[in-house]
Amino acid sequence: MNSGLLQGKVAVVTGATGGIGVAICRALAEAGAQVVAVYRGKQAEAEALAGSLPGTGHAAMQADVTAPASLQRLATQLAERFGTVDVLVNSAGTTRFVPHEDLDALDDGLIDQIFATNWRGPFATIRALRRLLEQRGGGVVVNISSVAATLGIGSNVAYCASKAALNTMSVSLARALAPSVRVMTVSPGLVDTEFIKGMDPAWRQAYIDKTPLGRLVQPEDVGRAVVSAATLTASTGTAIVVDGGRLLG
Ligand SMILES: NC(=O)c1ccc[n+]([C@@H]2O[C@H](COP(=O)([O-])OP(=O)(O)OC[C@H]3O[C@@H](n4cnc5c(N)ncnc54)[C@H](OP(=O)(O)O)[C@@H]3O)[C@@H](O)[C@H]2O)c1
Repeated sequence: MNSGLLQGKVAVVTGATGGIGVAICRALAEAGAQVVAVYRGKQAEAEALAGSLPGTGHAAMQADVTAPASLQRLATQLAERFGTVDVLVNSAGTTRFVPHEDLDALDDGLIDQIFATNWRGPFATIRALRRLLEQRGGGVVVNISSVAATLGIGSNVAYCASKAALNTMSVSLARALAPSVRVMTVSPGLVDTEFIKGMDPAWRQAYIDKTPLGRLVQPEDVGRAVVSAATLTASTGTAIVVDGGRLLG
């Protein structure tokens, strides 16, 4: 059912074909937004997603967040088709499991790829879409971070650090882009996606046992948090944590 909270808004979601990205696109469409599902390689999936969302006017567009030219092309396509961006959700992200104590396994190539995608990617996307976000006033960026930033627990040391850096960037840009553009962060705990289903069941259960609400976060929980962040018009530079209380320890 359309809540109407984002009726008439244009929402752009990177990482739209990811386990969490799909739920974010659906939540934004259910709130009435026209959604642009940004994919890197999965064109057919992104087009099928755009076609399956409630409401009309959705689209799928390609961009690699590590490639400035492709972000510029995305900005041009968005300007031509919509003339504005009201909500930008930076959900594209990358990681690989590396035990924290195995420093040699966290090679420079992987570190650079993680920071280029998880930190420079959101920054470059905001930079490319800034004018469109400012177009109607009241634009909002929602960066998908992680409680790994605070806990220092996550898939690898560089991933945790990249999300901490994303949090800091969100605060800096919230100040720099105010009052025309708000910058919010949504920080999930472990989310129950296909990726997580392949994990060691004992590790997964141990994580749940340490979570006060006794459950993993569902992608739909993150989708609702993104709609909240997009509609909390008196907030900027702050985070919505969606972690079942995991940060409480
Ligand atoms: N899953 C969790 O438990 C969890 C918890 C906390 C935070 N997060 C964060 O939530 C976000 C979404 O996670 P997810 O589970 O949906 O991840 P996912 O299923 O692995 O999907 C990642 C998405 O990012 C896209 N992507 C990766 N590199 C890209 C690039 N250079 N340019 C454009 N798109 C790129 C991928 O596109 P392609 O498929 O085309 O490569 C894919 O759509 C990430 O930022 C992640 O760090 C996840």
